[in-house]
Amino acid sequence: MPMLNQLVRTLNYRDGRLCFGGVFVDELATKFQTPLYVYNFDLLMQNIRELKAGMGGRLHLIAYAVKANPNLALLEFMARQGLGADVVSGGELQLALKAGIPPERIVFSGVGKTKEEIELGVQSGILAFNIETKREIDRIEQAAIRLQKKVDVTFRINPDIDAKTHPKIATGLHTTKFGLLPDEVLQLSYKFKSNPHIRVSGISAHIGSQIFDTSPLLESARFIKQFVAKLRADGFAISRLDIGGGLGVAYHPDDVGKATSLQNYAQSIAAVFSDEPGLVIMEPGRSLVAESGLLVSRVLEVKQTPKKSFLIVDAGMNDLMRPSMYSSYHHIVSVDAREQSVRVEFDVVGPVCETGDILAERRSLPMLQECQYVAFLHAGAYGMSMASNYNSRPRPAEVAIFDQSLRLIRSRETFADLIKNQYSLT
Ligand code: LLP
Repeated sequence: MPMLNQLVRTLNYRDGRLCFGGVFVDELATKFQTPLYVYNFDLLMQNIRELKAGMGGRLHLIAYAVKANPNLALLEFMARQGLGADVVSGGELQLALKAGIPPERIVFSGVGKTKEEIELGVQSGILAFNIETKREIDRIEQAAIRLQKKVDVTFRINPDIDAKTHPKIATGLHTTKFGLLPDEVLQLSYKFKSNPHIRVSGISAHIGSQIFDTSPLLESARFIKQFVAKLRADGFAISRLDIGGGLGVAYHPDDVGKATSLQNYAQSIAAVFSDEPGLVIMEPGRSLVAESGLLVSRVLEVKQTPKKSFLIVDAGMNDLMRPSMYSSYHHIVSVDAREQSVRVEFDVVGPVCETGDILAERRSLPMLQECQYVAFLHAGAYGMSMASNYNSRPRPAEVAIFDQSLRLIRSRETFADLIKNQYSLT
């Protein structure tokens, strides 16, 4: 079993009390209540530094995938580090802009962009739209004509590469809705070659997420490189190569030491593009933010049935959807490790009225008592961003540990928030 701080840096026990980034987690839970998302911004900083270091002197743009964690303060932090953003909706675009991310560092990906979203992107002067369908580029051209602009587009190519990840987060195969076929990209490139409102300037690919073995990621990068060489030979001025995101993180203790570090990943990418004059764009989400986040939850009760021991906690599938949706593993630790002699195999479940509201199955944990706390690790990515109000549950608060001080960066929702957009019949 690796040490806790090998699984999540800056996480350890001090006198039997869980400590994250120098802050006692029980104090956070008492002060801000639970369920509570806690992010250590110093870890974000370390990850960003690693990624930049691996890229060395090569021209690049880190366009953080906002969907992983769209908290405004977190985005502001990313902006201060000079990062750009990969957005997939008008909401994400507005958040990124509000956080101070310059439009010329924003790329807009995603299948199914609306007319309004496209207009917002064109008006704001974003770096590029990553085109996912044949019709989308027509809508962008229309918006560009209406707004009298010339718009940069990048074609998202579907390279038909198996990312060897969970099928629900694999996007690089021709059986998925994402990207364009190589032939379609060629046809569209010619169609828009001398269009006064569209500039075909980039190629992108994103083959999936939580990709542990980096070889498919490198294969995809090489695919982009070759495709760009072909387009250039045909007279297209391609200046941007967007490799997407997807690097996996070690959620499970058994995987510690097996994940590729951000720095090594970036070095391999820089090597693939060593002779490339254009801008290499990366869209990392999870690899930047997952490790930086904990979800802290309170034990509501221990329930024994003839067949199972359930640990019922106050965080449910609505707060952390990944285990129910993808059977994902999140390591769980007790916040108070002072009495940990007796271990029990628990199904850790939330209060949501669904049998599938299971956060962990057959997990060996200390015999916990009511009102003790547990922490779910690696909850910084796709945790709060996928949370919902199902069962009319207000979403958790979010707190940042920033330079060893605490900042409330989102209040816990209230009943008033739940009904604020609803109208009574009376
Ligand atoms: N770029 C594009 C176009 C994407 O669709 C995504 C993620 C990323 C970048 C960032 O990928 P990352 O570096 O985070 O792997 N909810 C799932 C993950 C869905 C990922 C969707 N797209 C989960 O909780 O595992």
